[in-house]
Amino acid sequence: MTSPTIPDSLIRSLREAQHVVVLTGAGISAESGIPTFRDAQTGLWAQYDPEDLATPQAFRRNPQLVWEWYRWRRSLVEKASPNAAHRALVHMEQKAPRLTIVTQNVDGLHKQAGSSEVLELHGNIMRARCSVENASVDSPDRGGSDDELPHCPTCGALLRPDVVWFGEPLPTEALNAATAAIGACDLLLCVGTSGLVHPAASLPLLAVERGAITAEINPQKTPLSQWMDYELRAPAGAVLPPLVAHTWPDLAGDEALP
Ligand code: OAD
Repeated sequence: MTSPTIPDSLIRSLREAQHVVVLTGAGISAESGIPTFRDAQTGLWAQYDPEDLATPQAFRRNPQLVWEWYRWRRSLVEKASPNAAHRALVHMEQKAPRLTIVTQNVDGLHKQAGSSEVLELHGNIMRARCSVENASVDSPDRGGSDDELPHCPTCGALLRPDVVWFGEPLPTEALNAATAAIGACDLLLCVGTSGLVHPAASLPLLAVERGAITAEINPQKTPLSQWMDYELRAPAGAVLPPLVAHTWPDLAGDEALP
């Protein structure tokens, strides 16, 4: 993978930043083998219709189909490991006075890598929650066969994946914390998100309004690009490890960094 040139001024800003926020999307997990949503050909929405799989109406119509699809996506997540980009953010957290990851991903790979301040805006695919009472449940499939639908251990109603579907609000606590972090940060990195799904896609504007330094790491341009001070057009795994290594040269001997 060839790394793009990383501007010295971005390296200096990152070294001096007191609070760094990294907004991530499906692109950061692409190099772990988890498909994105909107990449042409390989993206999930190129093959599946979200109306059939990722709305409350779809779940009411056909919970079996929805669970089948989420079980398949869970199996991809279970096989995946954090990649060099996730690991670079763990190193960044060790060096930056404060680092918050705001993620739209439901795969849990940031936490698995070892990042500690991770705000999951769209839930977590490994959890389920009661479709009536909303209480979260871990490992809801334990003991169930593939055809069996999981039920709430408390009230017996159907469990649903603990993710945000189209038309649903984001978890209030995570959204409030993300809004506060981005509105108070001095450097924002937008990594691997198409910037098309709101409210997550509106959050970077809070950093822009505040005058924070902003950078996008994505092989493609997005609607966010116009607001960014820096655009690094390459995969996250080719940018984040050298960005961290150049910013904090004492980390360069680490196996996760080039
Ligand atoms: P998308 O699939 O919309 O966008 C993925 C972005 O990652 C694209 O802009 C790609 O160019 C970029 N990309 C691909 N490979 C990359 C790599 N190796 N490194 C860096 N960038 C790369 O995914 P999201 O923006 O996360 O919502 O999508 C937002 C939401 O839409 C998702 O959370 C999901 C989806 O519908 C829900 O399920 C609620």
